[in-house]
Amino acid sequence: MKTYLVTGGAGFIGSNFVIYMLSKYNDVKIINVDKLTYAGNLENLKTIANNPNYVFVQADICDKEAISKLFKENEIDYVVNFAAESHVDRSISNPEIFVQTNVMGTVNMLQCAKEAWTVGDDTYKKGVKYLQVSTDEVYGTLGAEGYFMEMTPLDPHSPYSSSKASADLFVQAFSDTYKFPVNITRCSNNYGPYQFPEKLIPLIMNNTLKHKDLPVYGDGMQIRDWLYVEDHCKAIDMVIRDGVLGEVYNVGGHNERTNIFIVKTIIQYIKENVDSTVSEHLIKHVTDRKGHDRRYGIDPQKIKEALGWYPETSFEVGIRKTLKWYLDNMDWVENVTSGAYQNYYEKMYSGKQEI
Ligand code: NAD
Ligand code: DAU
Repeated sequence: MKTYLVTGGAGFIGSNFVIYMLSKYNDVKIINVDKLTYAGNLENLKTIANNPNYVFVQADICDKEAISKLFKENEIDYVVNFAAESHVDRSISNPEIFVQTNVMGTVNMLQCAKEAWTVGDDTYKKGVKYLQVSTDEVYGTLGAEGYFMEMTPLDPHSPYSSSKASADLFVQAFSDTYKFPVNITRCSNNYGPYQFPEKLIPLIMNNTLKHKDLPVYGDGMQIRDWLYVEDHCKAIDMVIRDGVLGEVYNVGGHNERTNIFIVKTIIQYIKENVDSTVSEHLIKHVTDRKGHDRRYGIDPQKIKEALGWYPETSFEVGIRKTLKWYLDNMDWVENVTSGAYQNYYEKMYSGKQEI
């Protein structure tokens, strides 16, 4: 029985990971530590909430006392650190919380794990590992050619990606300085069930269904490399099990699409399956995101060759599964977007000029 301390397990990718692991293995125990910010929702986990191998603890990853206590009370084998402030737009208007959670929180997790796992000078309990869930955004932006590789220099632009890059450097520093057992994964844009509807795909889906404006930043020709969330979960599982200590693994599936293509795909899906009256007239090109990265694209060769990982879900299949999930779970969308989210949404989009 291996015990995983998963942070941020009530968020989008974290909850998919917890469900993935408990469905795949009978011999893993998951302790999910989440602060339950606006992005964390225990409803995501209701299918596994009563699983005897699952425990939820509400705590902040910056809270040294709470995290140390968890290490004292449990024999933890692996830490998987998903917990983060994850939305670029929010980081542009409020960078401090990104430094607090993404940088200070990561350092606290590293320190607590190191203290708990140390058995001698720079030696640790056998088999333990700390995995930092990072992002392709730490590499900055690409031109029309080329891909992000693990040795691509870090060149973050937004407060969000700068905080994630900073966290990665601390993880690397723990590996270099203390020989602390770590891996870092850097994944491209995920999509799938339980993504908070401030992010492009669920936001456009929700707005189209409600005949609201569809805000496309700038010309909409920015490119993201989309990966179905379950394929990301599979990659993390493989890196924990077989990743070489100290290594970084990029995760992506060569599914580059422009934002405008994504928006039009969603409109077409709703037109065909739900409401024939929706049309591309809902699209509003608005003021661009500040410092907007133009293109992301991952070269996944290393994780494919080293660990045999490959993405199982094509974009065409994954996007239909995702949109169907949102249609079948509109009550989830209503629940998570009630209250504070409405204020955020109004504030975020009321200042956006149509261009
Ligand atoms: P999310 O915003 O959906 O979820 C974040 C979770 O972390 C929430 O449950 C929230 O309550 C929790 N959290 C926030 N601050 C916390 C704190 N101080 N202590 C404890 N819990 C806290 O994010 P996501 O999209 O699921 O992303 C998860 C991780 O994956 C992040 O580290 C992100 O940088 C990374 N990532 C995301 C993507 C993507 O496309 N979404 C791609 C690559 C990497
Ligand atoms: O690349 C991985 C990253 O993907 C993760 O590290 C982040 O946590 C995650 O939020 C995501 O960041 P993006 O900024 O790429 O995702 P977002 O869904 O916010 O935006 C996707 C693209 O769509 C981006 O180019 C901005 C654009 N966009 C977004 C929104 C919310 C719009 O044009 N209109 C919108 O309303």
